Amino acid sequence: MPTNKLTSRIAIVGVGDVGAAAVFALILSSVCGQILLVDTKEAFRDGQVLDLSDATHRGNSSTHVRAGTYQEAGQCDIVVITAGAKQKPGESRLQLIGRNIGILGSVISGMKPFKQDTILLLVANPVDVLTTFAQEISGLPKAQVIGSGTFLDSIRLRGHLAEKAEVAASSIDAYVLGEHGDSQFVAWSIATIGGVPIDKALPAGTFDRRELAESVKSTAQKIIEAKGATSYGIGSVVASICSSILFDKHNVRPISHWQQDHDCCLSLPVVLGRKGVVRNLPLPLDDEETKLLHESAKDLREVIDGARK
Ligand code: 2OP
Repeated sequence: MPTNKLTSRIAIVGVGDVGAAAVFALILSSVCGQILLVDTKEAFRDGQVLDLSDATHRGNSSTHVRAGTYQEAGQCDIVVITAGAKQKPGESRLQLIGRNIGILGSVISGMKPFKQDTILLLVANPVDVLTTFAQEISGLPKAQVIGSGTFLDSIRLRGHLAEKAEVAASSIDAYVLGEHGDSQFVAWSIATIGGVPIDKALPAGTFDRRELAESVKSTAQKIIEAKGATSYGIGSVVASICSSILFDKHNVRPISHWQQDHDCCLSLPVVLGRKGVVRNLPLPLDDEETKLLHESAKDLREVIDGARK
């Protein structure tokens, strides 16, 4: 008797604010059959399992939540890595690299050997740098090791533009690209509202582009100053990326992935499916945006080279 029982498994490594929000979003969207919570703090992990399991019992979610080991995580369809120190108020994401690269190394070696088609989804910051190192340390094909990147920033951008244009955010196609961090930039030249170029859809003077881009970039710091960490936005992004992968949806998403031309991982739109990055999309960026992309990549390479020393 064919069933549509969900059989795929996702491991969440690091079940603090971000990891738990991601699990909650995954439960509500019934993306997979099983979610394994993995964390060094086992008592805390077990408390999260109990609490999040209540969320599965309430709804008709077909997802089962349980504690898992690092070895079991390496055999899951997707491993979401949120483990790592988080920014303090005023701290940049790139400043976390010293603490988080060591955590990443021990997490990945604890999960090896990986299932051949496992997808690694990096969320911990600095996400572009950690995604680059995770590709090297894991030994998995580069297309299968990705980072949440500027998908969250692009959602923040679309939310701001939705307010200005009084249009649903889902009808706005606009990207923040490059580093998920200080050198990110908005690709205004390809932004559209309902397919209409932004400068035609929104009359001049409706908003200040620089101001809006800065507001998007500083959203995380505002949240961190107010409540210590961001969680629900990135949690919903993780659930969306996992859904694109597990249902092989071929959505186009701005996520952090390997860029041969830039010798590091950063965010540009890709087609996302069960194999991870299915293919890149050639973006018609203008000269200014191309310059900003190269500058963002240069900043990331400097941090990557510094971390290798
Ligand atoms: C965010 O942008 C802190 O990178 C995290 O919400």
